[in-house]
Amino acid sequence: MSRRTIIAGNWKMNTRAADGASLAQGIADAVGENPTVEVVVCPPSVYLSRVADVLAGSAVGLGAQNLYPADDGAYTGEVNAAMLCDSGCRYVILGHSERRAILGETDAQISEKLAAALAGNLVPIVCVGETLDDREGGKTEAVVEEQLRGSLDGLDEARASGVVIAYEPVWAIGTGKTASPEQAEEVHAFIRKLLGELFTDEVAQQMRIQYGGSVKPGNAKELLGQPNIDGALVGGASLKVDDFVAIINAG
Ligand code: 13P
Repeated sequence: MSRRTIIAGNWKMNTRAADGASLAQGIADAVGENPTVEVVVCPPSVYLSRVADVLAGSAVGLGAQNLYPADDGAYTGEVNAAMLCDSGCRYVILGHSERRAILGETDAQISEKLAAALAGNLVPIVCVGETLDDREGGKTEAVVEEQLRGSLDGLDEARASGVVIAYEPVWAIGTGKTASPEQAEEVHAFIRKLLGELFTDEVAQQMRIQYGGSVKPGNAKELLGQPNIDGALVGGASLKVDDFVAIINAG
């Protein structure tokens, strides 16, 4: 089973219009027309249309960092899947640990967002991952399992293969501490086994699982070389053209 590697840049609440546009342009130029890996950038939502214009005709896909799971209506401050599509998005990150921790997002909310993303024809990237306390308390698998079962609740087996999972250990995000390739592979293999139980082994083999947490040019190749690591969700290093392109080239 060959799964196409997917490298996504999560720009978080960084970049302004001008530097985001030049970052996107630099990545599109470097990636060319036929990259062997799938490449995605996820700018802040206010800049999606602008980055979409820069990426038009390029091989780089556009993603959002969140959505609100409702049709148009009275939801002040929110943006739904149809609006993201209209702005040129094909992907959406859901349940990032920063949203879980800072905004109190729950697995139940993430599962609603997942359903809305799929109904809106967006490729969801569903994030899970344990904190340092969880890991040190031997609870990594239990926490990841609970997050996955909750976030994927109600997901139809027929749609599951189109969902991307991102394993992002919270202790490795923005800290410079990367999970070792062995640590990451161990959890990725666990996630794939669980996906086999939730759906079928065949579906689990098709689903892509990204690693995220201090991915850099210097560690990308070893991480991406693990059998169950099918891509990377990159924060800090996705804000520099050279670093992000080096990670893409490691894929
Ligand atoms: P860093 O690559 O900056 O650690 O961030 C990872 C992340 O949270 C991507 O979603």
